[in-house]
Amino acid sequence: MKIFYADASPFVRKCLVAADELGLRERIELVPATAHPVNRDQSVVAHNPLGKIPTLITDDGAALHDSRVICEYLNALGRGNLIPRDGPARWAVLVEQSLADGLMDAAVLARYETALRPEPLRWNDWLDGQLAKVGSALDALDARAAAFGERVDLGTIAFGCALGYLDFRFAALGWRNTRPNAAAWFERFGARKSMVATRPPPA
Ligand code: BEZ
Repeated sequence: MKIFYADASPFVRKCLVAADELGLRERIELVPATAHPVNRDQSVVAHNPLGKIPTLITDDGAALHDSRVICEYLNALGRGNLIPRDGPARWAVLVEQSLADGLMDAAVLARYETALRPEPLRWNDWLDGQLAKVGSALDALDARAAAFGERVDLGTIAFGCALGYLDFRFAALGWRNTRPNAAAWFERFGARKSMVATRPPPA
């Protein structure tokens, strides 16, 4: 398998952490790609019309995206232990993934706004709106984190990658100051081999 990737992308990281936890990491070749909201990387567009990463090319040549589809595929291919098969636990994990993905979406959009959008075109209310979503998602995570224990599934992996992205691009936010449960949990989860191996480069 091949994955179009950039090491700064939290969505790519989610897939690689999932692959590692499923025992599949060695089977995935990394293909560097450019992630840009406007200028699509044509090498990715050739497989995914949206030009977005992560895009996974399976051994059969199928192009899979987005990160949720890729993680579901990897889970089915590997040990299958990252998404509960049925019952309330399944929906809880999938909703946690949705919450963490939403946090990452809002943080990435906020990053694009400040790092890429030309200054005269910036809209502060829009930026504040994205950061408000980040804050609400962090509050929800903090309310759940004490009960996470040593869980390793798609919900906790997605939350780990979301917090890792905040540390990478929004260190000044100081999210740990007001979210002690999430901070204590991430101290442990962030030390997992799969998380250490996928840390973004120094900002
Ligand atoms: C970033 O540089 O922050 C970034 C890169 C790829 C995807 C999302 C974010």
